[in-house]
Amino acid sequence: MAAPMADRELLLFTQYIASVCGVRLDSSKRYLLESRLDEVLRDTGCTTYGELYARARAGADRSVERKIIDAVTTNETFFFRDAKVFDVLKNKLVPDLLGDQPTRPLAIWSAAASTGQEAYTIAIVLEQILFDLAKANVRITGTDISEAAVNAANRCEYSPLEVGRGLEPKLLAKYFTQWGKNYKVRDDLRSICRFQVDNLLAPKTTGPFDLIFCRNVLIYFAAVDKAKVVDNLLSRLKKNGILLVGGTESLLGVTERVRRVETAGVGYYVLKS
Ligand SMILES: C[S@@+](CC[C@H](N)C(=O)[O-])C[C@H]1O[C@@H](n2cnc3c(N)ncnc32)[C@H](O)[C@@H]1O
Repeated sequence: MAAPMADRELLLFTQYIASVCGVRLDSSKRYLLESRLDEVLRDTGCTTYGELYARARAGADRSVERKIIDAVTTNETFFFRDAKVFDVLKNKLVPDLLGDQPTRPLAIWSAAASTGQEAYTIAIVLEQILFDLAKANVRITGTDISEAAVNAANRCEYSPLEVGRGLEPKLLAKYFTQWGKNYKVRDDLRSICRFQVDNLLAPKTTGPFDLIFCRNVLIYFAAVDKAKVVDNLLSRLKKNGILLVGGTESLLGVTERVRRVETAGVGYYVLKS
């Protein structure tokens, strides 16, 4: 076990993490940071936090940065998180976007997708509306800065504990197949989803999208990075495109480029034309 993190190391690490992924950890998070970085110390063979910091800054081995990002990001997620959002998606947003053309192209971005539960929940809702996804023209792009999370999303295999969080048994039976002790997402849902590593501070994902979900990540950013991320997202929306943020997140004072709409207890943002 490494010696406790010195104040200067704590400052350097929090600055480094904020600059790489926008996640702001204040000094009260010292123990959290230490415990998350301990595994990275073991993995990289570094014996002190200072040595790990120097390796990360040097940038010669990109896997050090990746391991730090994987360790410090909070990947908490589950199926149908904030269920009323998916009711609104099903009963209002998708029907409005498709109109009377079920084969109209529809592009959805699950930005900060973590391990994929949000994207696959969207895919379930789309199947419930469109029935035959092979005949529809829908695409879900899931991105996250954590490579470990993106790999898990791509595997689309979830433990009993993970499917037990948010999925009704009848949805589990219909949309998943047993895979050893775990469950795999059905192929037709999987086939409309693509996952890739991407940083919301400088996204390579281009869109344009009809709908963007960016939930439960803006809370981790400082105001300046939050504004930058929101601007990046809005630049990738189609005309009148929709941005959904987390239930505890708001764009009040962040941008003038959207108007807020409230439907069935769910607030979302429409890009002004
Ligand atoms: C708490 S999870 C939210 C997952 C999902 N959107 C949900 O609401 O259930 C936050 C995710 O944001 C990702 N994240 C943090 N900073 C990021 C950045 N700069 N770019 C892309 N993803 C980021 C983390 O890796 C993590 O998986």
